[in-house]
Amino acid sequence: MSFPASRGRRLRKTNAVRRLVKETRLSPSDFIYPIFVSEVITKPELILSMPGVFRFPVKEAAKEADRVFKLGIPAVLLFGIPKEKDDRGLRSLQSDGIVQRAVAEIKSLNPEILVVTDVCLCEYTSHGHCGVIVDGEVDNDTTLDILSAQAVSHAAAGADIVAPSDMMDGRVGTIRHALDENNYKNVAIMSYAAKYCSAFYGPFRDAVNSAPGFGDRQGYQMDPSNVSEAMKEIAWDIEEGADILMVKPALAYLDVIARAKQKFDLPIAAYNVSGEYSMVKLAAQSKLGDEKQLVFEILTSIKRAGANIIISYHAADVAQWLSEQR
Ligand code: PBG
Repeated sequence: MSFPASRGRRLRKTNAVRRLVKETRLSPSDFIYPIFVSEVITKPELILSMPGVFRFPVKEAAKEADRVFKLGIPAVLLFGIPKEKDDRGLRSLQSDGIVQRAVAEIKSLNPEILVVTDVCLCEYTSHGHCGVIVDGEVDNDTTLDILSAQAVSHAAAGADIVAPSDMMDGRVGTIRHALDENNYKNVAIMSYAAKYCSAFYGPFRDAVNSAPGFGDRQGYQMDPSNVSEAMKEIAWDIEEGADILMVKPALAYLDVIARAKQKFDLPIAAYNVSGEYSMVKLAAQSKLGDEKQLVFEILTSIKRAGANIIISYHAADVAQWLSEQR
């Protein structure tokens, strides 16, 4: 490159030229918006560890889903907070369970909203683990039966996509089989394929009260040091019938997203998790940076790394900001 023939600044001069050569653009269609729906409250309740995020009763959850859909966000991801927990998480299977009721309510309010449900036991078990405990350990194969029954009950309520986040082995195949057997062939699976054992889930566990009562999740969630293992997990889930593959968390795992995108031809989703969200909110509150700029930079980096879909608590704000931008 001979100076001064090449000058990068020519294409950075004005807002118009910068817009013209922009390589990565966020759109409301990129996003899935997570919603917490609770059986224990009668009006929306702010989650203290996640500034700006609420737990909603069923009716209000549906209204919130409709609000974000009207901002251009195609899908919501539901997490349930049940009234009662037990050692097997059986409240998660009932047709009048919190997620099942929320799915039905959203669909009756606006059937166009794409409804994704988190399939896991940790919100429903008294011990907070993502599976059933046998002999002091989270038992893989016993857990699979409950997870697939849960996925079928979400489908029966009207869910379009089920998203298993438990990290048991073989769950995608087992759930696919159960859905097909029950005639839910067109319900898709978004698998939390590469889900790391991360400290960034802290605020979420506070939101749904799912911190493990003993031990930790290292026996089933992935070691943050590993990336080849993530490719193996993704390949297994594709073989078992996953339709969308997720990497989670997002920001500390951009390399994993980039590799997954290069290696596989299915849509890649990235989960910009609760800890990533709350860090930005608290930083902005402390005037360490401008919230909107921080959010755009982070979410753009996730898309630039290769994510086709971003799950983010910032999504509603971003859709609003995009609609105001010219
Ligand atoms: C498990 C689940 C978790 C999250 C999504 N699904 C928590 C965990 O694995 O402990 C975390 C999401 C977030 O931090 O935003 N059902």
